[in-house]
Amino acid sequence: MNETFKDIQEYFNWYKTVYGDSLRFDGDLSLPERTIASEKVNPVKIAQPEPVAEPVKKLRFDENLIHQNNLQLKKFYHEINNCEKCALGKTRQNFVFGMGNPTADLMFIGEAPGQEEDLKGLPFVGRAGQLLDKMLFAMKLKRDEVYIANILKCRPPNNRDPLPDEVSKCEPYLKKQIEMIGPKVIVALGRISAQVLLKKSDPLSALRRDTHYYEKIPFIVTYHPAALLRNPRWKSNAWDDLQKLKSFFSF
Ligand code: URA
Repeated sequence: MNETFKDIQEYFNWYKTVYGDSLRFDGDLSLPERTIASEKVNPVKIAQPEPVAEPVKKLRFDENLIHQNNLQLKKFYHEINNCEKCALGKTRQNFVFGMGNPTADLMFIGEAPGQEEDLKGLPFVGRAGQLLDKMLFAMKLKRDEVYIANILKCRPPNNRDPLPDEVSKCEPYLKKQIEMIGPKVIVALGRISAQVLLKKSDPLSALRRDTHYYEKIPFIVTYHPAALLRNPRWKSNAWDDLQKLKSFFSF
């Protein structure tokens, strides 16, 4: 009889002596603390609920930045800032009306709000906007001395180009805004802004060549600041474009 068998037999003899014929167990069925590594049971993973995404907070901006308390512009902003004439009204975080001096001589018009602008409710406040500020600084101007707006007041998803339907719904707002501000000259930032307002399909290179007129207002076309960030070698051409403003202002 081998040793193990002998041990078991002794154990049952001892068991019978203690408990009689009935097998009984008074112990704890949980695994003992001393469980060795190889016996360790993987801890049961309790499914955690998926974290619920925080809704993106709409940031409040100082409304004064967009109309500097000009009553006409303020009233107009309140008339249109809940616009849902196109689908962008459903996806935007903020309506980006524009900002600056409501009686500015110089008005800059870009394409549409990007992500930063959508979150902050103000135009050109991202990287392209920082470059626009530098361009203004080079002309000894600050953004609260000019007026800055866009063709669209709401951000197109993923910054895609504005769709014709969006432009046709939104452009009348910009037209009215231009009438209220009455700038002496308009600068279109980029091809889309220029093509939409001039109703032309010429490439940017052709549009930059001439001074145009929008509702009798002199209209200059230059690169979009985002394009200048991608192609800094165009900056000197952009500076040449802005020199055309010298026939309307001294800077
Ligand atoms: N690009 C635009 O055309 N407009 C903005 O306001 C920001 C980025």
